[in-house]
Amino acid sequence: MPRSATVFSCSACGHQSPKWHGRCPGCGEWNSLVEEARAPAPARANGGGARAGNGRALKPVALADVQAPAVDRLTTGIGELDRVLGGGLVPGSLVLIGGSPGIGKSTLTSAALGHLAAAGRKVLYVSGEESAAQVKLRAERLGPAALSVPIVAETDLEAVLATLEPEQPDVCVIDSVQVLYDPALTGAPGSVGQVREVAGRIMRVAKERGIATLLVGHVTKEGSLAGPRVLEHLVDCVLSFEGERERTYRTLRGLKNRFGSTNEVGVFEMADHGLVEVEDASERFVSEATRAPGSVVLCAMEGSRPLLVEVQALVAPSELVPPRRVANGVDRNRLALVLAVLARHGGLGLGTSDVFVSVAGGVRVDEPGADLAIALALASAAKGIELTQDKPLAAFGELGLTGEIRHVAHADRRLAEAAKFGLDDVVRPGNGTRTLRDALNGAKRARAA
Ligand SMILES: Nc1ncnc2c1ncn2[C@@H]1O[C@H](COP(=O)(O)OP(=O)(O)OP(=O)(O)O)[C@@H](O)[C@H]1O
Ligand SMILES: [Mg+2]
Repeated sequence: MPRSATVFSCSACGHQSPKWHGRCPGCGEWNSLVEEARAPAPARANGGGARAGNGRALKPVALADVQAPAVDRLTTGIGELDRVLGGGLVPGSLVLIGGSPGIGKSTLTSAALGHLAAAGRKVLYVSGEESAAQVKLRAERLGPAALSVPIVAETDLEAVLATLEPEQPDVCVIDSVQVLYDPALTGAPGSVGQVREVAGRIMRVAKERGIATLLVGHVTKEGSLAGPRVLEHLVDCVLSFEGERERTYRTLRGLKNRFGSTNEVGVFEMADHGLVEVEDASERFVSEATRAPGSVVLCAMEGSRPLLVEVQALVAPSELVPPRRVANGVDRNRLALVLAVLARHGGLGLGTSDVFVSVAGGVRVDEPGADLAIALALASAAKGIELTQDKPLAAFGELGLTGEIRHVAHADRRLAEAAKFGLDDVVRPGNGTRTLRDALNGAKRARAA
């Protein structure tokens, strides 16, 4: 009987089986078997050298003596993207860009390739999702540079790899990694086994030929990259493109970066001629901030740069048990914590009210420094009093479980950013504010001043 070309292996224990099982016969884990290409039989391997004892001994080299030629990064011409990448694309690196449908992944990568092509780099766009004509329509929106990008519309991995070898572009975009398929595997395109195999084989070619590759990937409803998390281990950088489709602001964040910090965030706005970088995001968010009850400006840190965003809260009587807790742009668990601290240490129980908290502009804030702004916005919304008269109130700080306000990183930069926009009254840790009650009183004082 011919040996099948693939095997199903458990991603938890490594058990291999010729057919798929819902539950791994080895470890009992559910839904962990993924299809993989069978490794070539040892007899076919190079002189049988894979067996232990027969291998060629390697000579370790001191790191100081390793030759590492300084390579210039490839600047994509999109400042925010370059910053998130840590100063541009590293030749031969593999970057995964994940994002929900319609967020602008193809737009961003097309524009980047356009700039690179204009700078004299050899580029290639592999479109598996859209026909060449559809990609052209988008490129027309983006301008003449994007139109000069060569494209292949293909979903067969073998054909794509065969194209990459002779073309040898400096930068290549695969849009998307989930639609490419390896004909040797029977799994449907986008299945765990397929995605892993596709990414792995592209990586081998990319590293060998020094092709910087941008893999576009879709995210699931839960927000994680569809397909296996193993993809995240495989690639050098994982970027996540986020935002709400209906909103104009989109943020690009580094989740993993082997060549730079993952603290950087790029802010973009979708316009009819493509994504526009928003360089001074704070200015927009502050100018749009209302002074109504429930609005507080948060001095947040987005990576290494300070960003002022408006946190809004709405507290309304509820008929539901339990009442609604809706959080947009902040973590639900953080909101629960702030509500509990407010009830226990701020004398403000909201157990019978619906609570909505949202960060304006579709921005997501993921840092403990947001707690105090959320608490102040909630208190002001619940009491129906505005916190300031002319300028919005600014705040930052972490709430501890005992009602204390804790210091957060980069206080001076947050303050400087607030001062830049004329927000001098910042409720923050230190400066006489030690507990939540102090902060609530401080906010009242700021109002009276
Ligand atoms: N003429 C236009 N003016 C303004 N915005 C537009 C225009 N055409 C498209 N867009 C925006 O571009 C988005 C689609 O961009 P793009 O195709 O790059 O997204 P994507 O992330 O690649 O989507 P998919 O997951 O379908 O591949 C739309 O959701 C819309 O917001
Ligand atoms: Mg797309």
